[in-house]
Amino acid sequence: MRKYIASLLVVSGLALTSLTAALAQKTPTLYDNLGGKKAIVAVVDEFVSRVAADNRINAFFKQTASDPKRLASFKAKLVDQICQASGGPCKYKGKDMKSAHAGMGISGADFGALVEDLVGALDKFNVKPADKNTLLGVLGPMKSDIVEK
Ligand code: HEM
Repeated sequence: MRKYIASLLVVSGLALTSLTAALAQKTPTLYDNLGGKKAIVAVVDEFVSRVAADNRINAFFKQTASDPKRLASFKAKLVDQICQASGGPCKYKGKDMKSAHAGMGISGADFGALVEDLVGALDKFNVKPADKNTLLGVLGPMKSDIVEK
């Protein structure tokens, strides 16, 4: 009988442990769904290549593209920004979107072209439509701080 009670306690202890573990599991964030930091770095690399090849908007990035250090720092900022905005463990330390783009004269069409390049990069890595829309939903509201004409 004592043995029976002891094994019953062990079994219920184990059941309780797995129940606690199951309850502690958080719903995955957009950061998790995108595939974490490595996946975001890959998307940003692809995105920046697409922007550099995009004649509609690459003139804005002439100086950025011609200086490898500046390009690397720009990419790192984009990675941190997307990582943080998607719920990841990064901290974006760059300028706010209004100061970063002030005086560039970016139009709604320029903004749309850049978003197309981002969507192209996300599609290349088979990011699911729901995750793509969540990310675009986070970046979309930045438009009013970036577009000047
Ligand atoms: C949601 C849309 C956008 C996001 C999230 C974004 C994000 C950023 C970030 C994080 C920076 C770096 C800020 C810093 O140096 O502290 C930056 C700089 C810049 N952005 Fe944007 N941007 C967006 C749209 C655009 C558009 C539409 C254009 C032009 C077509 C543009 C052109 C630039 C340029 C030229 C720089 C300066 C890069 C450099 O320092 O070399 N951005 N942007």
